[in-house]
Amino acid sequence: MTLEKIKIAIDGPSGVGKSSVSKYIAKKFNLIYLETGIMYRAVAFYFLKNNLDYKSFLCIKKNIFRFNLEIKIVDNISKIFLDQEDISDSVKNSKTSQIASIIAENSIIRENLGNMQKKIARENNFIIIDGRDIASRIMPDANFKFYLDATPKIRAKRRFEENLSDNKSLEFLEKEIRFRDMRDKNRNIDPLKISKDSTIVNTDDINFVEVCKKICDIIKSSDK
Ligand code: C5P
Repeated sequence: MTLEKIKIAIDGPSGVGKSSVSKYIAKKFNLIYLETGIMYRAVAFYFLKNNLDYKSFLCIKKNIFRFNLEIKIVDNISKIFLDQEDISDSVKNSKTSQIASIIAENSIIRENLGNMQKKIARENNFIIIDGRDIASRIMPDANFKFYLDATPKIRAKRRFEENLSDNKSLEFLEKEIRFRDMRDKNRNIDPLKISKDSTIVNTDDINFVEVCKKICDIIKSSDK
């Protein structure tokens, strides 16, 4: 297989396994992996850390240029730096992700982070990017587009079984997931939706290995 470019867009709701699948595919095809969710999480982290009102448009507008957010690719994987500090691990918790979803409704934030993401997408021909608006807005020229999906019940169950639940009950996790889906799918700007040219991979009844195999097979058999 000799492709001139491998640009893969992976979209889907929270907890569907986008990041584990993307990491695997990136390794397999030697691609750079950009995880856009950590950028929204990083802004949320800043607002939480500084006790700022993340629900206020004006407060966001006033503060957006007060911090320096950088995304760096280290060993082919994206790391997020806030004022020179690597906070990639610190942003991985449920509080930050809930606030990230509120912050992601803001047009100034979306424009800023979107421009950073588009630049990386433009500059790399061998890249996989995951998020909510990748196929439609960030990398519309991707030659492979996938939408991973699973019911909220299944996603909550996986999260619970993988011990990523911060001791929350299964019911609570499902509620949290449904709530975030609702916000991400119904916001005014760049809502999470299935792009017309994306291949839907429903992961309800297949495991991680099978999902990766499905995606790898499509890429390998392609001459795009
Ligand atoms: O993917 P992750 O769960 O880390 O994303 C956190 C939040 O950031 C999402 O719930 C979503 O609201 C927002 N997000 C977005 N667009 C992206 C990536 C993430 O709006 N491309």
